[in-house]
Amino acid sequence: MSQEKATVTLSSNGESSEFTMDGGTKGIPVLDIGSLYKKLGVFTYDPGFLSTASCKSAITFIDGEKGILQYRGYPIEQLAEKSSFLEVAFLLMNGELPSKLELSGFTDEINDHAMLHEALRTFFDGFHYDAHPMAMMVGVMGSLSAFYHSELNMEDPEHRRISAMRMVAKVPTIAAACYRHSVGWPFVYPRVDLGYCENFMNMMFSLPSQKFIGMDHYIDPVAIKALNILFILHADHEQNASTSTVRLASSTGANPYACVAAGISALWGPAHGGANEAVLSMLSEIGSVDRIPEFVAKAKDKNDPFRLMGFGHRVYKNFDPRATIIRQTCHEVLEKYSNNNDPLFELALALEEYALKDEYFIEKKLYPNVDFYSGIIYKALKIPVDMFTVMFVIARTAGWVSHWLEMMAEPDHRIGRPRQVYTGYDTRNYIPENER
Ligand code: CMC
Repeated sequence: MSQEKATVTLSSNGESSEFTMDGGTKGIPVLDIGSLYKKLGVFTYDPGFLSTASCKSAITFIDGEKGILQYRGYPIEQLAEKSSFLEVAFLLMNGELPSKLELSGFTDEINDHAMLHEALRTFFDGFHYDAHPMAMMVGVMGSLSAFYHSELNMEDPEHRRISAMRMVAKVPTIAAACYRHSVGWPFVYPRVDLGYCENFMNMMFSLPSQKFIGMDHYIDPVAIKALNILFILHADHEQNASTSTVRLASSTGANPYACVAAGISALWGPAHGGANEAVLSMLSEIGSVDRIPEFVAKAKDKNDPFRLMGFGHRVYKNFDPRATIIRQTCHEVLEKYSNNNDPLFELALALEEYALKDEYFIEKKLYPNVDFYSGIIYKALKIPVDMFTVMFVIARTAGWVSHWLEMMAEPDHRIGRPRQVYTGYDTRNYIPENER
């Protein structure tokens, strides 16, 4: 079968050239325009990458129209129901679900790498107690490059694998340390007898003065199940802003811990991973159910920058499959912790109902996304609001390192270097200071 082609003709000079369609195993066909500049002397202009595939990847598949999300071919619904976060991390990094033995070896290795170098403790002392935990995450993750640089041979797949394992293993330890630094509690070492999610909750909330006897919310099976599902749902999302940042930074051959720190920075923004924190701030600002119409009107007003946080998605235009899964968990968590009568949760559910019936939101296909519910769950689990995006970091690290591993294994990966449309001055002569 002949390959589909598209012809591009420049009306200015009548020059034209053929370009081939180069799709993947499934998904939207892609026009390969890599040689466009060479053939026709023009660039493409696509701010926000609305129509641009930046790479080839075999990790995650999304069909935004149909609301499909798959990791390595496995539907997210099946993984959320049947799998565990570590199993999913293995799948993302290695391409296949692990055997029992492989998972046990993977878990042992994660446990082995979960501790932080003791010198990192003093690093935390440099942060003021009220530093935002995401600022600390960026700094501490980036600083790992100072601990593991000279010994890292980027050409060696085993060295790269160990770096990736270290990041997945250490990220919950760093995250919990950021929180404990902010409240002035001593850091808690990771425990090998606990699962990934239980261990994180223990590092967050256990106190040396209290025996760890399951008396608190953090070891409760409903909480751990919710956390496991949230981590699975957030583990990867193909070429989103933070993953693309990790790939772009890594394309220069930079140290992977520094590149993942760049991804953490990109995730922080309210249009991306910061949305879960922004949802809670928004709900506090709205304050009560009777003010919902006023804020929905603000969100629809083109002269008002206010948007309903936790609504809309660049890719999902009918529904976010992660939101469908987590909505159910959200209700289970709220029921368990009897927080259904918390005014904030009441408000969230009322806002969801109101916006889903609103013409503007229906017409623009703006549905609650995963982060509308994740913030509510984290709040119920007593995770502080400024730690919400950090929770996203813990999960997404598995995705970032998988993309890094995939990219670094490509024999011909090139430095990412977009072009621009220059809109500044034409050439002009320097004016001496006394004449300006
Ligand atoms: N509230 C009100 N109007 C909205 C919203 C919203 N949350 N989201 C989009 N719109 C409107 C927007 O004004 C635009 O209207 P018009 O066509 O009249 O100009 C239209 O819907 C399309 O929006 P867009 O900004 O072109 O869409 P985008 O794909 O560039 O942005 C988004 C996607 C997620 C950044 C955006 O929907 C948004 O800002 N949502 C709130 C923040 C949020 O919840 N982000 C988390 C995303 S899920 C986590 C993740 O995967 O990172």
